[in-house]
Amino acid sequence: MAKERWASRLGLVLAMAGNAVGLGNFLRFPAQAVQNGGGAFLIPYFVALAVMGLPLIWVEWAMGRYGGKFGHHSTPGIFQSMGRSPVWKYLGVFGLWTNLIIASYYLYIESWTMAYAGYSLIGGFNANSSVEFLKQSPPDFFARLTGEAPNQIFAISAWGLGIFFLCMAINVFILSRGLAKGIELVSKIGMPVLIIFAIILAIRGLMIVPESEAAAGGWGIVDKQAVASPFEGLNFVWNPKFDSLTNPAVWLAAAGQIFFTLSIGMGSIHCYASYVREKDDIALTGATAAWTNEFCEVILGGTILIPIAVAYLGLAEVQQKSGFGLGFMVFPTLFQKWGMLAPAAGFMWFGLLFFAAITSSLAMGQPIMAFLQTEFGFSRGKSALAFGAMLFPLAFPVACLSQKTFFDEFDYWAGTFALVLFAVIETILFAWVFGMDRGWEEMLKGAELKIPRAFYYIIKYVTPVFLLVILVAYTFQPEGRVPVRDSVTRAVLKDPVTGEERMANKGWEPYILAPFSGEPAPAWKWSGDGMIGKLVFADVPIPDGPPAAAEFARHVRLGRTGDRLVMVGAFIAFSLLVALAWRKRRAQGEPA
Ligand code: PHE
Repeated sequence: MAKERWASRLGLVLAMAGNAVGLGNFLRFPAQAVQNGGGAFLIPYFVALAVMGLPLIWVEWAMGRYGGKFGHHSTPGIFQSMGRSPVWKYLGVFGLWTNLIIASYYLYIESWTMAYAGYSLIGGFNANSSVEFLKQSPPDFFARLTGEAPNQIFAISAWGLGIFFLCMAINVFILSRGLAKGIELVSKIGMPVLIIFAIILAIRGLMIVPESEAAAGGWGIVDKQAVASPFEGLNFVWNPKFDSLTNPAVWLAAAGQIFFTLSIGMGSIHCYASYVREKDDIALTGATAAWTNEFCEVILGGTILIPIAVAYLGLAEVQQKSGFGLGFMVFPTLFQKWGMLAPAAGFMWFGLLFFAAITSSLAMGQPIMAFLQTEFGFSRGKSALAFGAMLFPLAFPVACLSQKTFFDEFDYWAGTFALVLFAVIETILFAWVFGMDRGWEEMLKGAELKIPRAFYYIIKYVTPVFLLVILVAYTFQPEGRVPVRDSVTRAVLKDPVTGEERMANKGWEPYILAPFSGEPAPAWKWSGDGMIGKLVFADVPIPDGPPAAAEFARHVRLGRTGDRLVMVGAFIAFSLLVALAWRKRRAQGEPA
């Protein structure tokens, strides 16, 4: 089998940028920024980028290129080439498992972007259309696409499933074409297109003038004119606020976002980097891909969703609606205000999400492809089909059950928790087992960018400590429910309608501040966002209210239990494959 390589340096940069730039940039980032106080979010975000994001990018590229030298292209083999103990290859299983699990729900969202792009293009989401079919509101369209309904555990939509399978098939087909003719080609087309679409939308968005936009009719929100300047939204994102710096929940969210958006802690970067030549630069190339991702995230991603939504809905409403749903539930409606431009705007928005998503979902498939190709000698076509076959049993429950079960649970364990865990493991392997001196030499080999020496110490000491703190904070996160106080007068704020005291979950903050503020810390309760809280279903309380809601909560708990068994099963299955592969190696007299 011919050795796979990237065809060109530009192709490599675009593929790596395509790997990183995804739904995380255009949907997850704005959602996180809104939920965590806008400008208050960006400081922890950039700190996490400096002490964790960028160092880990270089570490992962260096590990990938090093493992590639020995013919390994997925983390079990790459890890094993760097550490002697046989456990490393099993720890490397995370770099397959995480990708497969994330792919199973990420591809589902990717399939929505396809459906939304198509429906927008033919003039859908238009309350005034003369064609009945095109009049669906975004929430109706979404409900038809996903089958999702309140308090219902089954969420099945035949045509939603059809589009999902089509989307999986497209990914399998592209993967089967190999690195240069598949992933690299798609990235060379998709990345420029998505950046152009994003720039057009950002500029058009910033041109919204309050009170002067033509009002279009329909569904309540569109019959009002723009209420605010889009720059108010931009200001909200960019105006630094320091009041959340003491809140560890904001730090956790920022670190989680850095992981997800840069695709670190997943094994995907190692895989792509393992296809570069031994003497090729990784310092500059890695940094370039990372900066492209940051440009697409904070500049483009920060200038589309929030400013446009703020212009039409006002900041207060955007904060209430918060993030992810805005893009699918509200945006198509807002575009209707652009009259003739509406179909094009909708198509560009969902089209850019689609290109962002597919270049990322391919990056989730490639490590598994590479594992089957290099460790089992599978052909490209066979490994692509095998990837599809592994995906199926995970993707099916994601699509057919309430998002509160498999979808959310996969996103937490694989999309948040496992990334930090994997990063802790790889940093220890790289800086302490392989050794920081050898590691540093690896990073600088062929380097066209002089990585400042400070990063030697950051990678060796700061990154692991930072990661361990995050891991512990995630694991034991308390709810920290306290009354909300006015930042100046310290008076407890009351709800204007009900007159009740307003309460908020602040995580670790009240416990840390208690000795200084004199305010008693609340009684300990696990947060539903923390690892232990998730395990004990702190985020799925069984309500006393209507029996249907209580029954639904019980079903969600059941669904999540099933989901956890599936995740454990998948991990064991991958570990068995690794064991098998190394048995074969030993039988052929290769080192374990
Ligand atoms: N970084 C991608 C995003 O921002 C997600 C991703 C996860 C990509 C895992 C590759 C592997 O959406």
